[in-house]
Amino acid sequence: MNDEVSTGGDDVSEITAVPYHLGIIMDGNGRWAQARGLPRIAGHQAGVDNIKRILEHCVRRGVKVLTVYAFSTENWKRPQEEVSGLMRLLGLTIQRQLKELNKNGVRILHSGRMEGINPHLQKQIRNALEVTKDNDRIVLNVAFNYGGRAEIIDAVRHMMQDRVEPDAVTEDLFSSYLYTGGIPDPDLIIRTGGEWRLSNFLIWQAAYAEYYTTPTYWPEFDEVELDKAFIEYNHRERRFGRVLQK
Ligand code: IPE
Ligand code: IPE
Ligand code: MG
Repeated sequence: MNDEVSTGGDDVSEITAVPYHLGIIMDGNGRWAQARGLPRIAGHQAGVDNIKRILEHCVRRGVKVLTVYAFSTENWKRPQEEVSGLMRLLGLTIQRQLKELNKNGVRILHSGRMEGINPHLQKQIRNALEVTKDNDRIVLNVAFNYGGRAEIIDAVRHMMQDRVEPDAVTEDLFSSYLYTGGIPDPDLIIRTGGEWRLSNFLIWQAAYAEYYTTPTYWPEFDEVELDKAFIEYNHRERRFGRVLQK
């Protein structure tokens, strides 16, 4: 991995605190493609390629967990051709990138429902988790067939199956039943593509996250843009309900 990268004129020395857990809502692939007269799936391909660039910059800056929103439980409502294209793209990406990700110390996790994903792709996902389970440079958590409400429902179901007593239910216990159990809550959530909404992403975990949104479409969101978000993050005062003494 290359250590030096253009700063685009921003003062990256302002980045003293880096989010431990960064979540990204990778939006705008379709509009990026459309603006170039390309099919939407070409935008998704460019979007997948961009994950590598951003992941490498996260390693460079010291982020320990990167969660990327790749396919939501609501995305099944898209045209069948786009849905199958997105499924195919995940399979191909695992096939092509797993070796290198593993070599670079990336641990892959999956947040989302396995039901609904075709069995072959499920197998590829499970294999990627297994192969990379001992890596500790960075966690790449892929939110695929993910919905925050579905996650909460799944957690409640598991707690009931485990016959957890009502009095034993605490925020920490509940968090441990989520797909992200064991991962600290996100510190910063970035949304590309100009919208200002969560679209069902990490709705429980993001209770105290900082938000950052940019009109830049995901395939064009580069290292300089990510540093801009980190600089902005450094200017936020995270109070968690307290009054800070100056
Ligand atoms: C985000 O890009 C990727 C997925 C939801 C899979 P979009 O496909 O939503 O792109 P826009 O919002 O239509 O431009
Ligand atoms: C959110 O983007 C989901 C992902 C990035 C995977 P969408 O494009 O699906 O969100 P909406 O439909 O604009 O809320
Ligand atoms: Mg979108």
